[in-house]
Amino acid sequence: MAKELIVGFGKGLSREHTPVLIDGSKGERINKGCHSKYEEKKGNKESSKNEPTRATLMFALKNEVDGLVKTLQIFQEKHISLVRIESRKSKRRDSEVEVLVDCSSTKEDFKELIQLLRAHAKVVSLNLLTSNWIEEEEMSEIVWFPKKLSELDTSSQRVLMYGSELDADHPGFKDNVYRGRRKYFVDVAMNYKIGQPIPRVEYTEEEIRTWGMVFRELTKLYPTHACQEYLKNFPLLTKYCGYREDNIPQLEDVSAFLKERSGFVLRPVAGYLSPRDFLAGLAFRVFHCTQYVRHGSDPFYTPEPDTCHELLGHVPLLAEPSFAEFSQELGLVSLAASDEDVQKLATCYFFTVEFGLCKQEGHLRAYGAGLLSSIGELKHALSDKAIVKTFDPKTTCTQECLITTFQEAYFLSESFEEAKEKMREFAKSVKRPFSIHYDPYTQSIEVLKDTRSIEKIVQRIRSDITTVCDTLSKMNKDFVF
Ligand SMILES: [Fe+2]
Repeated sequence: MAKELIVGFGKGLSREHTPVLIDGSKGERINKGCHSKYEEKKGNKESSKNEPTRATLMFALKNEVDGLVKTLQIFQEKHISLVRIESRKSKRRDSEVEVLVDCSSTKEDFKELIQLLRAHAKVVSLNLLTSNWIEEEEMSEIVWFPKKLSELDTSSQRVLMYGSELDADHPGFKDNVYRGRRKYFVDVAMNYKIGQPIPRVEYTEEEIRTWGMVFRELTKLYPTHACQEYLKNFPLLTKYCGYREDNIPQLEDVSAFLKERSGFVLRPVAGYLSPRDFLAGLAFRVFHCTQYVRHGSDPFYTPEPDTCHELLGHVPLLAEPSFAEFSQELGLVSLAASDEDVQKLATCYFFTVEFGLCKQEGHLRAYGAGLLSSIGELKHALSDKAIVKTFDPKTTCTQECLITTFQEAYFLSESFEEAKEKMREFAKSVKRPFSIHYDPYTQSIEVLKDTRSIEKIVQRIRSDITTVCDTLSKMNKDFVF
């Protein structure tokens, strides 16, 4: 394919930088193609579809031995000619490498290439820098997002942090036994396919002891600190899923319980996902859930989500239908949204699902999982030392998320219903050239952009209204639409 693939970024991506082509000649500058767009609009759409043209894109990969080779195979499979390729270590993350590619192909092949790259497990981000013919609106159409449940198996593999490697300041960094154990959980998550039973884990005595200490201290606080919905669901988890001090519940049992209560299911994950991939799971009512236990040297601290955080923090609320609906709405809004909008949505998620507060019968209560799984911060958030503001997505999305310290402010919602309505309003500011609808029967996402796709939804609404009318008539009540 090329004599010399990697030549280094050198001067970066400056427009003045003359690229060295892989065939050794000098590169030509690639302009934004206003002229070719004009040509297309004059009626040359069909011919331009098949004409090869130039585009430049940059993507980031996990820095693995075969990462680049496997990604370049996609170009080869789509018969896309590479004109220039450069790579450099990512400035954002040490674990990633950035690749800049000039290529030449037809418009259709290029659109398919972009979709394949976005779905590829090793590609963690992708930006189209210049293209002769793809307009902004069209580009947003080809932002990849999962449309079928099974496609989450691809995005679930893109673990950003604490997958198989731990940072030097992680409590388990020097513990080889712990690291071996973490590797086991990575393998379970990476080999899992949606729909399969989640493998049962035989937890070690130390893991159960760590869980038990967290469980014991937190359950003392819940009656006075957790919201009513949490307190209602917790005894059910004890009854049906084995929530006990001396037992770490199995994800498979918890997932089956959630499915019955709210339609959510759990999917094991090896570590942190990007906000885009994590939120996409929520759109399908899939919660990416870690299965490992924090390091036993410090049971009340973890630098990352672990199964104590997921099972004690998230699960009791995910069993609540109104909260499940709120979580799914957040996920649906994120699909095909711009990186900037996804960041805003992730911040709203952080200050609601992770650190949210509500008021019940005149008392401040926690519903956020980050609070409900942290003894210290749960006490702090409900004390008079904490700053509490009203949740408003427009302002909340600008608040800084703190990971290693308590939050500087917490956000209060009267109810999940209220938070959902506010998020719905906020969603109108998220730009997308089409609307999205979740089909619960096929568990898939429908893109609504023409009258035919809308018609399908209207049919379903009609059928629902018929059911409602039928029920009301049986109840002998008049109902006027
Ligand atoms: Fe969490």
